[in-house]
Amino acid sequence: MKKNLVVLTGAGISAESGVQTFRDSNGLWENHAIEDVATPNGWNRNKELVLSFYNARRAQLKQVKPNTAHLCLAEWQKHWNVQIITQNVDDLHERAGSKHVLHLHGELIKKCSSTNKEKYVTVERNDIRLGDLAPDGSQYRPYIVWFGEDVPAMETAVAIAAKADVLLVIGTSLQVYPAASLVHYVSTKCACFVVDNHIPRVPDFFTPIEMPATKGLPFLYEEYLNKLL
Ligand code: APR
Repeated sequence: MKKNLVVLTGAGISAESGVQTFRDSNGLWENHAIEDVATPNGWNRNKELVLSFYNARRAQLKQVKPNTAHLCLAEWQKHWNVQIITQNVDDLHERAGSKHVLHLHGELIKKCSSTNKEKYVTVERNDIRLGDLAPDGSQYRPYIVWFGEDVPAMETAVAIAAKADVLLVIGTSLQVYPAASLVHYVSTKCACFVVDNHIPRVPDFFTPIEMPATKGLPFLYEEYLNKLL
């Protein structure tokens, strides 16, 4: 039976595909204050702004491609049961060929009811416009978990992390909870690695690989992973 390789990814894994990370631009995300575009209050204040912000992010997805790091994780499925828990809302893991991807913070390519987030979840690859209504009569909104909202996938993520033989954390500053707490749910037998070009604060039992993801993952495989099979 294949061993469980659990991977927690953040914005850093998509950086080399050309998708901007969050915390390297003074709290601004693509020139917008996070409060304006990624909170329920922002949505209530100005739906048009929030829709156009995510429409732009969704359109950008069509311009970017999975990079070597996404492709490595997909390739490793041959030898490992790879389960990805991602904070990213892009679909680059899926497009690289990864089969088990759990999105903690939602998905750009989906929309949902704005009165009940888990209702009328539908694939949407194009713009969501003001006046596009879900069958319950509410404005469709992006299927994104905003600051202050529940993270319903967290329970499943904790169960996955608890069964990890190897935990690999890639490209996340680990500043956003509850996602960041996943590193504390692994068993004492789990081998833990972090690949990031600025290693975030992690528990002592992690082996740090301070490299960009596209270089760090091939290195990790050669130096460590293939010896753990
Ligand atoms: N390779 C590896 N790591 C990288 C690279 C790269 N090429 N480029 C940047 N990084 C690292 C940074 O050093 C940083 O540790 O990626 C991390 C990005 O951190 P954040 O921008 O804080 O992104 P993330 O941790 O994914 O944010 C978590 O916050 O804004 C919310 O919901 C949003 O899911 C997001 C969550």
